[in-house]
Amino acid sequence: MKIPFNVPYLTGNEEPYVLEALRSRRHCGNHQFADKCIQTMKKKYGFHEVFLTPSGTAALEMGCLLADLQPGDEVILPSYTFSSTGNAVVLTGAKPVFCEVDPKTMNADVRHMASLVTAKTKMLLPIDYAGIPCDVDAINALAKKHGLIVMDDAAQSFGSFHGGRPCGAGVDMATFSFHETKNLSCGEGGALVVNRPEWVERARFLQEKGTDRSLVLSGVRSKYSWVDKGSSFLLADILAAMLWAQLESVEEIARKRKAVAAAYRDLYAPFEKDGCLQTPHPPPDVDCNGHAFFVIFDTAQNKDRFLSLLRAKDVHAYIGYLPLHSSKMGQRYGYKAQDLPLTEDLASRIVRLPFYADLFDAGLDYCLESMQAVLKSIYQG
Ligand SMILES: Cc1ncc(COP(=O)(O)O)c(C=O)c1O
Repeated sequence: MKIPFNVPYLTGNEEPYVLEALRSRRHCGNHQFADKCIQTMKKKYGFHEVFLTPSGTAALEMGCLLADLQPGDEVILPSYTFSSTGNAVVLTGAKPVFCEVDPKTMNADVRHMASLVTAKTKMLLPIDYAGIPCDVDAINALAKKHGLIVMDDAAQSFGSFHGGRPCGAGVDMATFSFHETKNLSCGEGGALVVNRPEWVERARFLQEKGTDRSLVLSGVRSKYSWVDKGSSFLLADILAAMLWAQLESVEEIARKRKAVAAAYRDLYAPFEKDGCLQTPHPPPDVDCNGHAFFVIFDTAQNKDRFLSLLRAKDVHAYIGYLPLHSSKMGQRYGYKAQDLPLTEDLASRIVRLPFYADLFDAGLDYCLESMQAVLKSIYQG
């Protein structure tokens, strides 16, 4: 039996909705299915405004333009993240400043973040790794103290809650991904949440290639023109139709994924108790969407053994991020691997387990048996 790393979930409604979008003859962005997604997200999660984008990457780039980052500005983000988080910053000419992570969650270490604030810092850009919300309250407090913008790269945490508050609410901006590896997928897609009402009009200009087309659509102007920077940050309605099917099933998807996470937790707990490895430890007031499950092994050698023995059983786990600060691009910004020793060390020992909603219905037993056998051969050999 093969257990892949990821399989995108289908609710069954994607086909009729995509067909409906096709037949509507209104295929570009911000049409009926986009509107359904946006209104539902706003109502359900309390977001002030939502912009559907072609990817999580595009949402980050739109957010950095909206923050008006300029050359000379600094943005603090964890090194342990995807390239897109760093790219969005450097595309504006601003400088990425990398912070360490907290091993319990692999999210930004806020105390280290605070120590990196300078007069040039303009924005804090945490992420929500594996769907676990970052410490938004501490990050907001830091931002307030220094007058900084907070944008949460919530690519992985759609539908997670922290202290009852949904991820994406309670920050200036947040970005989601609807890539096929995420809880909700439309193939490639994303969203930018804007919670600052005074920024919404400009966000509409940025999304529509720097034009004031939105004012024409709302009847304020008769012609639209080039008024600002921008790009094409819109999700085609055919993809929004697929996203709508997924959004309707957001709780069902999370329920299945949380059951997979619970099974992993039970399997790994005795090994964690024996000091062989470490699993995620979100704060108690977190309701995680079950996006992913990571395991930090005691040594990099045991991590490698785990991955290859598991692969021999056709069960596909995967390494985590390669830290940005020690990457080729990170080095161009003057970073060396030893600048963030904790991140380097954790990244060399972390694994992400196979994780998808359908695993709950088929394959989970085989997956757990295979992992149990591999862990026993490594640690009880
Ligand atoms: C933390 C983080 N940010 C951004 C992205 C980019 O999202 P997308 O693939 O939708 O562009 C990802 C994708 O995996 C991610 O994990």
